[in-house]
Amino acid sequence: MAFPSAFLDELNSRNPIEDVVGQYVALTRKGSNLFGLCPFHGEKTASFSVAPEKGIYYCFGCHKGGGVINFIMEIENLSYPDAVRFLAKRAGLEVPEDGTNQSQYKKKERLWALCKESARFFNEQLRSPNAGEVRAYIAKRGLSRATVTRFGLGFAPNAWSALLDAMTAKGFTKEELYDAGLVLQNREKGTFYDRFRNRLMFPIIDVRGNVIGFGGRVMDDSTPKYLNSPETIIFNKRRNLFAMNIVKKSKQGFIILTEGYMDAIALHQYGFDCAVASLGTSLTQEHADMLSKYTNEIVLTYDGDAAGQNATQRAIPMLEKTGLRVKVLRMQGAKDPDEFLKKYGADRFKLLLEGSENQAEYRLRSLRMKFDLTTDEQKVEFAKQAAELISTYSTAVEREIYGVRAAEMAGLSPETMKLEIGKAFKRRAATEKKTQEKRDLEIAAARQPRARELRYDNVRSAMAEEGVLRMLLREPALFDRTGGLTEETFSVPMFGKVFSVWKQRHLEDLPLDLSCLAEGLSSAEMSHLTGVLQKQDAPLSDDAFDDCVRIIREEYRHAQVSDASSLRAMQESLRKKKGYGGT
Ligand code: CTP
Ligand code: MN
Repeated sequence: MAFPSAFLDELNSRNPIEDVVGQYVALTRKGSNLFGLCPFHGEKTASFSVAPEKGIYYCFGCHKGGGVINFIMEIENLSYPDAVRFLAKRAGLEVPEDGTNQSQYKKKERLWALCKESARFFNEQLRSPNAGEVRAYIAKRGLSRATVTRFGLGFAPNAWSALLDAMTAKGFTKEELYDAGLVLQNREKGTFYDRFRNRLMFPIIDVRGNVIGFGGRVMDDSTPKYLNSPETIIFNKRRNLFAMNIVKKSKQGFIILTEGYMDAIALHQYGFDCAVASLGTSLTQEHADMLSKYTNEIVLTYDGDAAGQNATQRAIPMLEKTGLRVKVLRMQGAKDPDEFLKKYGADRFKLLLEGSENQAEYRLRSLRMKFDLTTDEQKVEFAKQAAELISTYSTAVEREIYGVRAAEMAGLSPETMKLEIGKAFKRRAATEKKTQEKRDLEIAAARQPRARELRYDNVRSAMAEEGVLRMLLREPALFDRTGGLTEETFSVPMFGKVFSVWKQRHLEDLPLDLSCLAEGLSSAEMSHLTGVLQKQDAPLSDDAFDDCVRIIREEYRHAQVSDASSLRAMQESLRKKKGYGGT
C-alpha cells in the first residue's frame, strides 16, 4: 500500500536512525558517524556504520545498507508496510490506513503547498509599484538583498483580498486559506478577507523545509507590532522555532536563542548562521528537546528588561534538563542583538560570545538583584542564599571564584563566605548521598530473590553468576571457557553447587538440566533457580560469557582481599593493645 509522503516524512523524522539502530547494535561515535558490529553478518571489528545526518546505515563488510525502514525490514524480517507500522508504533504515530487519516495527511500537504505559494506571492509583491514603503522600511532596518532572499521575506499588500484572489486563482479554496490561517471570516456576511495587510512578511519554515505560517510586522508604530499565523494543523508554535531550517545546517557548534525574528535575522546577516527565535511565545520543553538534537550548547540572548530576564530564568532549567550547556549573554548598551549588532558590529558581538557568562555567574548576579545590600539583615540573608546557590556549582574552582565574588557583594570576608559555602556543600552532599544510597538499595532489591533466606550479598557477582548458569544451560560447550571458576568463587552458595554438579555431569557427558539438581536444593532454591534460568538473556556470545566469568573472579578476589585486610587489621589492633598493656 502507498503511504502519504507527508506521513513517511514524519515517520522518518520521529525515528532517528541512530536511535532505532541503537536498540539493536551498540554504537560508538567517531566524528559525525557511528560504528558498531554488523547485526547482519558475524564480525569482530566494527564495519557497520550509521550516518545520522543522512539517515542511513551501511556495512562495509557485507554491503547491506539503507534507511531506517529497510533496517527494520531486514532485522525484524518484516514486509515494507509492516516495517512502517512497526516504526509508527515505536514513535506513537497513527498509521493512515483508512480514508480519514489519509485525508488528514493530504490536507496537510495542501496547506503546505498553499503556504509555499503564499510566501512566493508575498515575496513577489516586494517588486510591485505599491511596495515603496516596505522597501524603504527594509532599507531602514538594514536588511541586505541576500538576507531578504535567504529568509524569503515579503510584503502583504494594503488590500482586503490580494492574497485571497491570488491563491484562489491558483486553485486553492477559501476554506483552505481559512484553515491555513491566511484569511479571516466576516461573521455577519460570511465573506473572507486577508489576515495580513500592509505588513512586512516573515515566512515561518519548519525543519523539514515546509512553510507553515507567517509573522507580519507593521512598518510604523501602530499595533499590534507583529501579527502571527494562528495555530493550524500544520503550525504549532510550541514545536517550531524561526530559522531552525537554516540553523540545522550550521557548523558553529552552538545555537543562539533570541526573542525576535529581527534579532535572528540580523545575527544571520552579520555572519552568525546559528541564531533561532521563538515565535512570540516563551520557550517550551518541546523547543528545548528539539534544540538538544542539533547542538550541545545554547547561548541565550534575551532582552535585558525584566520580561527578558524572567524568560531567561525559565528557559535555563528546561534546556539543562535535556543535557544542553547554557550560556547567558548580557549586552550592555543595547536592548537586543539586532540593536547591538547595528551599534557595535559583528566583532564586538563575537567578543561578547567568547566571554559570555556562564550561568553560574548569571545566577549569582540575579540573586544579588533581589536584595538591598545597604542593610545588615539583607546582607546576611543574601550571604546565606548565595552560599546555598554556590554550593550547587559543580567544580571547586567555580565555588572558589564565585564565593569570593559573593563575599565582595555582601561585604564579608572571603573566608567567612567560604566557610558558609563549605557547610552548605556538606549538607547537600549528605542528602545526595542518602538519596543515591536509597536508589542503589532499591535497584539491588529489585534484583534480589523473593525468598529472604536467599538474598544476594554481592549483587554484581550474583548477576554474573546467573548469566553464567543461564548460558551454560543453553550451551554446555561454554564450560571450556570457565577457567578459574570453582564452586568457591561463586558468591551465592547455591549457584556454586549448581555449577559443580553441572561441571561433573558435563565431564561425564551427561545432559545438564534442572532435574539432576532436585535432590540437593530446597524448594525455595529450586523455584528461584528456575526463575533465574528462564529469564531472557542477550543473545549467547563468547564475549558476554567471558565478561560474566571475569566479574565473578574479580568480585571473588575483592572479597578475599577485604577478608585478608580486615584480618590483618584485627591482628594489628590486638598486637597494639597487647603492647600498651605491656607498658
Ligand atoms: N511579538 C509578537 N507580537 C507582538 C510583539 C512581539 O508576536 N505584538 C513577538 C515577535 O516574534 C517578535 C518578538 O515577540 O519578534 C520580540 O518582540 P520585540 O522585542 O517587541 O520585537 P523585536 O524583535 O525587537 O522587533 P523589532 O526590532 O522589529 O521591533
Ligand atoms: Mn528589536
